[in-house]
Amino acid sequence: MLNKKVSELLNDQINKELYSAYLYLDFSNYFEQRGLDGFANWYYIQAQEERDHAMLLYRYLQNNNEKVTLDAIAKPDKDLSSDMDVLKAGLAHEEYVTSLINDIYAAAYEAKDFRTMQFLDWFVKEQGEEETNANDLISKMELFGSDPKSLYMLNSELAARVYSAPSLVL
Ligand code: FEO
Repeated sequence: MLNKKVSELLNDQINKELYSAYLYLDFSNYFEQRGLDGFANWYYIQAQEERDHAMLLYRYLQNNNEKVTLDAIAKPDKDLSSDMDVLKAGLAHEEYVTSLINDIYAAAYEAKDFRTMQFLDWFVKEQGEEETNANDLISKMELFGSDPKSLYMLNSELAARVYSAPSLVL
């Protein structure tokens, strides 16, 4: 059995990760409408990764004999008025998710739940990468977004992103 608070936070995080997937699907949809298929691809793959994060949490709880409760997933509600709005909403969202992972880690630390801390180590590292990726996208857009040829090249770069399953295996 896991500590009750840790278990509840991990359960909530399943919902947060599925919301993240839903949010990034909305971003992908925005860029598809814009005709920027590379950006759309990048966020489509991001949505797949978020679903994976939810599944890792789901499986971890089940492996620890914890009951999983699936809640309603909120509607994506970010203001997507411009390309840069989308990218900045992505960074803000990842910073929020990092704070959630940190909160779970702190609860596990307090409960001396070393197993969950070890499990969450992968998420801590992943959040660092996701924030870096979101920051890089903003920097590239600031540098190249206003020039159509450069935007075309950036879009082509993002079109090359391929999905790969998470490195964490439970
Ligand atoms: Fe699952 Fe982008 O955090």
